Amino acid sequence: MSFLSVSNVHHTYFSKEAATEALQDINLTIDKGEFVSFIGPSGCGKTTLLSIIAGLFEPTSGSVHIENQEVYGNKDLSIGYMLQQDYLFPWKTIEENITLGLKLLKQEKKSFTNVASSLLSDVGLPPVEKKYPRELSGGMRQRVALARTLAVDPKILLLDEPFSALDYQSKLKLEDLVSNKLKEYGKTAVLVTHDIGEAIAMSDRIFLFSARPGKLHQTFLVPEELRTLTPFEARAHSSYSSLFQTIWKELESLE
Ligand SMILES: Nc1ncnc2c1ncn2[C@@H]1O[C@H](COP(=O)(O)OP(=O)(O)OP(=O)(O)O)[C@@H](O)[C@H]1O
Ligand SMILES: [Mg+2]
Repeated sequence: MSFLSVSNVHHTYFSKEAATEALQDINLTIDKGEFVSFIGPSGCGKTTLLSIIAGLFEPTSGSVHIENQEVYGNKDLSIGYMLQQDYLFPWKTIEENITLGLKLLKQEKKSFTNVASSLLSDVGLPPVEKKYPRELSGGMRQRVALARTLAVDPKILLLDEPFSALDYQSKLKLEDLVSNKLKEYGKTAVLVTHDIGEAIAMSDRIFLFSARPGKLHQTFLVPEELRTLTPFEARAHSSYSSLFQTIWKELESLE
């Protein structure tokens, strides 16, 4: 039995003026500890599918299960969500932001400071727990967002273009950090990205979607020799560029 399964998912958005068919007949499974990416043209339904996997809303039809439990309406499943913007609360300190999820889970208060400081060092940040988000750079804020996501020990991490607002150097560093941490913590993850290179460098498998309506077009298995490298090293490997070319051509044929 797969860790996560998306079964016959269709989704249509209805407004007064129009019905937009965002996803059509999506079926896929993800194994425990696997890192997969969703890529595809703008508007092909990547964010919609990620939100459905997160249980944020119910698909028009079909279902998503994690360890045999349906995600929609399930309060016991902890799912981590990391977005392009970090959504840190500006009026809260870094420590309060990191431990927010723990407070919601009503965990014991006295350990919060320790949790925050150990997670900060884990994501490569100096002790900034008493600072406010405005005092940190974009890359540092995304590290805090990662620490906050890991704090609640989620079953799965859903990452919707978390690096796309960063400068190139910060992005490469964060890719390595996220990949490393998720391996260390043995987490399953789904990354949405527009960057084919990032998908190849970080993933075990890549799902390519086509648009209008969003359908699963093709699945690519990242070769073993790339999967054992860090994202930064993978980008320099000879297998990387041939897979890049293949996916690039396929994506072009869809646009
Ligand atoms: N809340 C909404 N109401 C109506 N239509 C929506 C809504 N959200 C998304 N859509 C439509 O559903 C389709 C899929 O959108 P979605 O945001 O999932 O695509 P995406 O692949 O994430 O795009 P991008 O790469 O630009 O982020 C698009 O046609 C979009 O206009
Ligand atoms: Mg999107």
